[in-house]
Amino acid sequence: MSKKLIVANWKMLPTTLAEAEGVLDLINDYLELLNEKKEFSLVFCPSFVFIEEVGKILKTSHLEHEAELGAQDIAVEDETALTGEVSGAMLQKLGVRYVIIGHSERRWKLGESDQVVNQKLKSAIRNDMVPIVCMGERERDENFSKFLEKQITNTFEGLTSDEISRCIIAYEPVWAISTNPGAHSDTPQSALESISVIKEVFSKIYHLSPKTYLYGGSVNSKNVANFLKEEEINGVLVGGASVNKEEFVKILSLVSKL
Ligand code: 13P
Repeated sequence: MSKKLIVANWKMLPTTLAEAEGVLDLINDYLELLNEKKEFSLVFCPSFVFIEEVGKILKTSHLEHEAELGAQDIAVEDETALTGEVSGAMLQKLGVRYVIIGHSERRWKLGESDQVVNQKLKSAIRNDMVPIVCMGERERDENFSKFLEKQITNTFEGLTSDEISRCIIAYEPVWAISTNPGAHSDTPQSALESISVIKEVFSKIYHLSPKTYLYGGSVNSKNVANFLKEEEINGVLVGGASVNKEEFVKILSLVSKL
């Protein structure tokens, strides 16, 4: 089985740098224990407040060879007046390699449209970062494939084949994200069905499909192995469980045993 990609989306946690250091310390200790047998690569996406410090920690010790720095968002433009935003150029200077684009919390809670997501995706590509493009339906009904097709068409509008092939797709059904009201758990079968729909849509429109597919609908130590034992699921995007250090180490140890 090829190496799985584990992306930690810390969202607005932890609230202090000391806690963030605590999470990374424990993971570093675990990586030391694992020695040569690492079946995964890691990306940490902290809040902007800690991104510079986390970037420095990721360049040390065992984390240096296994973990990369990611951002949770990026400004639509590089050089303009945009209060509160962080530009791709700024992120690049801090060593950010990956950027989460179009997370459902930004789409649905903050009203980020597909058009804005498309601009952010172009910004990440322009700044030489690997975009982790989130997509997923709000409801699992008979229209879910149509929904995904529209989301893909709008989100990737104007990208070249080469640019599309540089993207990572994170399938995160909104109805499975634990912090959303009425959330309920997904199954690997339904995730595989959606990933297959996404691949078909890419093939139909662009005659190619991105190579890496993550699953992100509330991954934890109880379900991670079920999703990742599927060859077509190349990794996971972990929310809440990635800031709980014991839980995250448990996830990594389960991935090591796949
Ligand atoms: P939780 O894992 O906290 O449910 O969040 C999922 C998610 O949004 C990952 O990006």
